[in-house]
Amino acid sequence: MNICVAGLQWGDEGKGKVVDVLAERSDIVVRYGGGSNAGHTVVIGDSRFALHLLPSGSIRKDVTCVIANAVVLDPEVLISEIDGLTERGISLEGRLWISENTHVVLDYHKREDQLREESLGKHKIGTTIRGIGPCYADKVGRSYAVRMGDFRDLKALKAKLDTILAYKNKLFGALYDAEPVEAEAIFEKCQAYAARLVPFTTDTTEFLHTSIAAGKSILFEGAQGSLLDLDHGTFPFVTSSNSSSLGLPSGCGVPARMVDKYIGVIKAYTTRVGAGPFPTEQDNEVGDFIREAGNEYGTTTGRPRRCGWFDGVAAAYGVKIGSVDSLVLLHLDTLTGLKELKVCKAYEIDGQEKTFFPANIDRLAQAKPVYETLPGWDDDITEVTTFDALPAKAQAYVQRVEEIVGRPVEMIGVGPKRSQTIVRQ
Ligand code: GDP
Ligand code: IMO
Ligand code: MG
Repeated sequence: MNICVAGLQWGDEGKGKVVDVLAERSDIVVRYGGGSNAGHTVVIGDSRFALHLLPSGSIRKDVTCVIANAVVLDPEVLISEIDGLTERGISLEGRLWISENTHVVLDYHKREDQLREESLGKHKIGTTIRGIGPCYADKVGRSYAVRMGDFRDLKALKAKLDTILAYKNKLFGALYDAEPVEAEAIFEKCQAYAARLVPFTTDTTEFLHTSIAAGKSILFEGAQGSLLDLDHGTFPFVTSSNSSSLGLPSGCGVPARMVDKYIGVIKAYTTRVGAGPFPTEQDNEVGDFIREAGNEYGTTTGRPRRCGWFDGVAAAYGVKIGSVDSLVLLHLDTLTGLKELKVCKAYEIDGQEKTFFPANIDRLAQAKPVYETLPGWDDDITEVTTFDALPAKAQAYVQRVEEIVGRPVEMIGVGPKRSQTIVRQ
């Protein structure tokens, strides 16, 4: 069985936890997009792992991990992740494959990300400054891109970097009056990256097709979420890749029809980091309650996340564009203690009720959420292991989310730990 796990909101839905749980029954876990802007958390007992580039299946020692072509890879981050896991007794030797076509994020991409954000002032996107946008822009532009396969020929890479830095330095100087970046310094780092990462580099498309033909089961791990998708999200307040599951086929070379099941991950409420419209945002004591109870601070940047009520219109949109079969609903425990819970089931735009999410931000900015109010519960649910043992009001909340979003919830999170997961029969 090949399964895709993708977020249906603005990221941080808890994909890392879900992938870790499902990886138990998978041979291979594939990251098919995004870069070190992602922060995927896995908590096992008292151990916490925050992964940015390695697939969340990497914690399980018998799982093979693939970083596919559409990822933008920051070698510094990946090497420190590999070393960090190795120090904790989890080696990646012989079970990590990186696509030779994967584009490489280098220091000048992070510099460009930062310079552009600073220059935009109040119009900034609120990126993670991980060089994601500039690296994808170089990929689309083609002439100044570095891919993992380039690390195999250091002489050619040196010449390429000289050309790239001559171009970038003219740009940085003219646009931002910034200091030049030394090509030599970047090349020195690249030599070290090559020594470490070339042994992991291969044709991952061939590897995946060979594995599928051999009957291996593959788990595809989405990064970010549907609403941050470059084409289908809330542009321009999005990331620079197709971060919905629509990015899977081009992201790793496996066609959508070879995936047996698409799982959409949602939180029991909604969060967003960075700028952009967010109709159900609660910039008040409700939002503060959720942020503290759910520890809603970014895994990658530590930024406080914006918090709000569950948005059924937004989640249902993710279901439609992502051909989602079933849902995983996390952070149900975070809502414990709120007297009343609101769920958005439609938007009112220009006096009309709409249930199809308008990704256009001008229309979205006008959307007034139409809420339904449900009663909250007080009982601690963090030790609950079956759906039937949840308080009736928590069960009713989950059932209403299912009705609004239109798909069954097959797994529920009642805490960050791997063990705090209810699997519905
Ligand atoms: P991802 O980017 O989608 O993998 O999500 P993040 O790891 O960025 O953020 C999710 C956060 O919620 C992490 O800190 C997880 O440990 C935590 N988490 C996941 N599921 C649950 C849950 O059911 N309850 C609670 N309280 N925390 C959860
Ligand atoms: P995971 O995989 C939440 C957001 C940034 C910003 C916008 C563009 O952990 O769910 P970028 O650095 O990609 O150019 O920033 O996208 N963003 C995320 N928000 N979770 C993520 O990843 C995100 N990756 C990017 O905050 O608003
Ligand atoms: Mg995250």
